[in-house]
Amino acid sequence: MAPCLILTGFMATGKSTVAGLLARRLGWELVDCDSIVAERAGKPIAEIFIGDGEARFRELEHEVIAELAARRVRCAQCGRPRPAVISTGGGALLDACNAAHLHALGAVACLEARPEVIVRRLGGEASGRPKLAEGSGGLVEKVARLLEARRPAYARVSFAVDTSDLDVEQAADAVLEAFAAWKRERCGTSR
Ligand code: S3P
Repeated sequence: MAPCLILTGFMATGKSTVAGLLARRLGWELVDCDSIVAERAGKPIAEIFIGDGEARFRELEHEVIAELAARRVRCAQCGRPRPAVISTGGGALLDACNAAHLHALGAVACLEARPEVIVRRLGGEASGRPKLAEGSGGLVEKVARLLEARRPAYARVSFAVDTSDLDVEQAADAVLEAFAAWKRERCGTSR
């Protein structure tokens, strides 16, 4: 199975946008785990959190990732396994089982950004980001706290790319470069 490219990392580090660009550039399928979860639940992620609770959201997220790890999609023309660019929600990697599935699928890239950049990209608001709506304190404080708590999980990846000072094209370039290096190291080829 050709290795997939998985983008994970904290909220507002550019996962979905960069994944979309990478999928177009590579001509690969684009899979957005949160979109699949929302589609299955029939409501946006924030409403799943409010109506059904975070545990239900995590259950659905886990289900989607386990299915991705189990599927073997092949190209209709050539019959070869079809690679994909997969973007996950910011908390997916915290679950060890999700992490194992994602690593089995391919290279797990963690997109990073400095807390002040994350807050700026969020427009200073937590709206649509339930993990930042809970708890006390200001947004900067919440982002810093959650980032710190998640640091060990975000460190267990194939490679990381800090997007703080990069635009989308540059971030995509950086991910592709690190992906090629990962493949050279792992498979002896960058193709
Ligand atoms: C979450 C991040 C969100 C979404 C959910 C939980 C998290 O995705 O999966 O709100 O725990 O960090 P994004 O990282 O795409 O915002």
